[in-house]
Amino acid sequence: MYSTSLLSLLAVPLTALAFPTTSLSTRQELESLHDKYVAAGKQYFGTIADEALLADEQNVGIIQQVFGQLTAENSMKWESIQPTLGGFNFAQPDVLVDFATANNMLIRGHTLIWHSQLPQYVSDITDAAELTEVIETHISEIMGRYVGKIFQWDVVNEIFNEDGSFRDSVFFNVLGEDFVRIAFEAAKAADPDAKLYINDFNLDSADNAKVQAMVTNVNKWVAEGVPIDGIGSQAHIAAGQGSAIPDAIKALAAADVAEVAITELDIADAPAEDYQQSVDACTQEPKCVGVTVWGVRDNDSWRPGTNPLLFDATGQPKEAYNTLVSNL
Ligand code: G3I
Repeated sequence: MYSTSLLSLLAVPLTALAFPTTSLSTRQELESLHDKYVAAGKQYFGTIADEALLADEQNVGIIQQVFGQLTAENSMKWESIQPTLGGFNFAQPDVLVDFATANNMLIRGHTLIWHSQLPQYVSDITDAAELTEVIETHISEIMGRYVGKIFQWDVVNEIFNEDGSFRDSVFFNVLGEDFVRIAFEAAKAADPDAKLYINDFNLDSADNAKVQAMVTNVNKWVAEGVPIDGIGSQAHIAAGQGSAIPDAIKALAAADVAEVAITELDIADAPAEDYQQSVDACTQEPKCVGVTVWGVRDNDSWRPGTNPLLFDATGQPKEAYNTLVSNL
């Protein structure tokens, strides 16, 4: 008869063995923010990754110990995943999805419709029927591949200007605001169980015109039957902005959606107080399901020189991490 430990080893998916592991003797001991957040009643505390970051042993060691949810930083963006019409490139997102699945981590899909990182062939479309079909195919192919594996999707990203008007993009210019309905309906058809999000930045103060525009438009779309489940607040903020996040999250949660999330948190200079205030904003809001930090170590951040993350360039936990561990 096989021992329990042998049986459990046999149960490990082969993909789990393909990623770097850190030897126990060199691995630093870290507490899981994810486990603490789940114990506090939330769904997840996560971060980002992609193939290159998952090839880094130290980064993987931190992710496995601290986080329970992954967002693809770049590999699911349109220019990466469908660089030519009909030419889907799933190699990199597969790495992320396989790693997260093998490690029992939740996955946020990011992002289906975004004006940025968009191939020229999409921007060149001027015909409404053609653009609708291209949007629908993009969404059904990608969500269809990962159906049941990705629990939340950023269906549309960054569609508002700061004054609350619609951002100039091929989607808005050719289809008007109807592109939002088209995208969410395609997403709902592709994976009826995934939670479908509208995601944006600078939703960091309840007074922002963009917050008001988000709530007003989402309420209108939901009343019209557009299947929007949640609002994502990116929260790329500066030191000192953390104190405004609780009211901002409350304002977003007042919309007619089932849930909200903090989707891309990073804070210049990573003050512990701002991190705590930002995470508290989600903790205190019943509709807020989780927090995703936009990166693990400062040197991997998209904001070079601002050191906005929970781990420094050498992978050491910073005061903000220790504070969250103590207070969650
Ligand atoms: O992959 C190419 C590579 O082939 C090329 O050689 C290299 C040369 O510059 O560029 C590589 O692409 C870069 C890509 O990251 C992957 O590393 C792009 O130039 C660079 O612009 C891109 O930056 C990303 C940015 O979004 C734009 O897509 C950041 O890593 C990523 O953190 C950032 O994330 C966004 C969210 O998706 C949306 N919200 C804001 C957030 C921060 O900007």
